[in-house]
Amino acid sequence: MKKIGIIGVGEYLPKKVLSNADLEKMVDTSDEWITTRTGIKKRRIALPEEASSDLATNAAKDALKNSGLKAQDLELIIVATITPDMQFPSTACIVQAKLGAKKAVCFDISAACAGFVYAIITAQQFIARGAYKNALVIGSEVLSTVTDWKDRNTCVLFGDGAGAAVLAEVRSGGILSTYLGSDGSLAELLMVPAGGSRTPASHKTIDKRLHYIKMQGNEVFKLAVKIMADAAQSALKQAGLECADIDLVIPHQANIRIIMAMAKRLGLPSSKIYLNIEEYGNMSSASTAAALCGAVKRNRIKKGDIVLLDAFGAGLVWGACLIKW
Ligand code: ACO
Repeated sequence: MKKIGIIGVGEYLPKKVLSNADLEKMVDTSDEWITTRTGIKKRRIALPEEASSDLATNAAKDALKNSGLKAQDLELIIVATITPDMQFPSTACIVQAKLGAKKAVCFDISAACAGFVYAIITAQQFIARGAYKNALVIGSEVLSTVTDWKDRNTCVLFGDGAGAAVLAEVRSGGILSTYLGSDGSLAELLMVPAGGSRTPASHKTIDKRLHYIKMQGNEVFKLAVKIMADAAQSALKQAGLECADIDLVIPHQANIRIIMAMAKRLGLPSSKIYLNIEEYGNMSSASTAAALCGAVKRNRIKKGDIVLLDAFGAGLVWGACLIKW
């Protein structure tokens, strides 16, 4: 069985910072409420001319540099995003052109906040069965374009950013186990209702603000804690490992209270949880991607460490992936 691992990681965060103090001037909220209820202090906002493919390309260049591969070497590019540049073509194809990765096969994955984990596991399958030698996987989001800046229930949560990883066969370590799940019966808990074939864009949909994220936060919260803990347990069981064997968890960064409740359920100390939510908020697919990169760059992951990626999101969808670094 081939060992497939991550040979380079990268990230890109737009320069503009939107703080809780800035949000206090936009909606009826407070730094105190946002910090205690979510753990978020700031988030990044893309420039008007920056689309998902721009953030993705910057993160990809960073990951390629760290992997030692060149864009021309890439055989597969997968972009996980719920904020693509446009309905079609895929953002992955746009990134391919920007990178000059002429050999690569390209497609997008729509799995919301679990998108990066879904994309990693998809890429692993292609490399393991010998279809491609390597893959560039990116989580990239410009959530500020689907955030309703008049809705305090949601606008304090989201941010823009991108993270990337290059996968290839490795001599030691690599992906130990993977676990994916979906439950479409819960789709209405979290969605952007208009803009697709069900409810195409019209003056009416714009007047009703239906092109923005709608979320039943409380319901999602309760499910997220259980789902992320169960996904971790399933991946551990498959690998024949225990919670205590994990060196670092890279969880989806939706809410600090979700993450800490999940850690408590698993009996994991907070020292084993990597966080970037305070700085960047919830960047959907880009959250786990940028967090993985942040952890590597800050030397929180050493060779031989057991790392757990664990995410959930709209769909509902969830996924966990255990990697020996
Ligand atoms: N500032 C001040 N007050 C607020 C704000 C705000 N920004 N937002 C909500 N409130 C108020 C509410 O109006 C409510 O007031 P009321 O009691 O007078 O009605 C009160 O605060 C409590 O509201 P809740 O919704 O019960 O607050 P909760 O503790 O559940 O926190 C939150 C809300 C942060 C959204 C939480 O439910 C959460 O994190 N949910 C999960 C989000 C998530 O994980 N999403 C999935 C990923 S996103 C993706 O897939 C794209």
